[in-house]
Amino acid sequence: RQDRAIRPKKLADYIGQEELRTQMEIFIKAATARQEALDHVLIFGPPGLGKTTLANIIAAEMSVNIRQTSGPVLEKAGDLAALLTNLEAHDVLFIDEIHRLSPAVEEILYPAMEDYQLDIMIGEGPAARSIKLDLPPFTLVGATTRAGLLTSPLRDRFGIVQRLEFYTIDELAKIITRSAALLNIAIEPNGALEIAKRARGTPRIANRLLRRVRDFAEVKGSGIVSEQISVQALDMLKVDHNGFDALDRKLLLTMIENFGGGPVGLDTLSAAISEERGTIEDVLEPYLLQQGFIMRTPRGRIVTQNAYLHFGLKPPNRLGTSL
Ligand code: ADE
Repeated sequence: RQDRAIRPKKLADYIGQEELRTQMEIFIKAATARQEALDHVLIFGPPGLGKTTLANIIAAEMSVNIRQTSGPVLEKAGDLAALLTNLEAHDVLFIDEIHRLSPAVEEILYPAMEDYQLDIMIGEGPAARSIKLDLPPFTLVGATTRAGLLTSPLRDRFGIVQRLEFYTIDELAKIITRSAALLNIAIEPNGALEIAKRARGTPRIANRLLRRVRDFAEVKGSGIVSEQISVQALDMLKVDHNGFDALDRKLLLTMIENFGGGPVGLDTLSAAISEERGTIEDVLEPYLLQQGFIMRTPRGRIVTQNAYLHFGLKPPNRLGTSL
């Protein structure tokens, strides 16, 4: 990926997430004026909405360094201790997939977050000793796809909790236009709009589609990303007019054709489409839920009328349709 060039570096360049931006601007200003580290921040939301981007922006706005790691990478308590003891005052420590920390590592994090104290055992058996070290005040920025995956003691230690929402088509069109300018891509407003409509509310997808449409425009057109070229390229990529890709369609069609529209349980669905449960929950479902194509019920997932209509199928009467 060559995201670097197009990632916004300051809050002012960050498009969308209005409420989050307003709040973060205030919290950052206040902490800076008091010459304190920013309180710990938990960012949650589906993949591709800008969690890493936001962590980097927080560090840039605070004028501090950022150290990045992820939950599964921190295997032992010592791995986290090494990172913590290398921080400078007010630095940001970014832990992606923070829901995947091992219990031993998570335990180190509690006193570190709360009191800037490192509390660690060295050695084993009779020779084992516990040592305590003062850490510089720092900001932990944690990212996860779902806040519900965190243990409550961990979640409770974040003073700032932000949820990233799917972007509107207008916001995505602005992001695409901005990216195109930075990448020297000639784009027409309706080209940006067409890509935005099919980007699943997600900047990462929007930027990826922009690059693929540019390829198409350069080989099959004049190099300009117009509406017509975008439609042709996106149709070729099998991204449909609701932004659904092959996997979205497979999920919906399996629910309709194999399970009568549901209710169907997550594990059954996972086996039926050969995708991990986590992928269904974190990647596929959030957008389909938000767009009203599926619903969660206590007995499992069901598709809505919209899903039938999307495939040109007649919704069954039991869904309460007037058709
Ligand atoms: N690229 C990815 N996310 C973005 C955002 N929210 N604003 C601007 N550019 C982006």
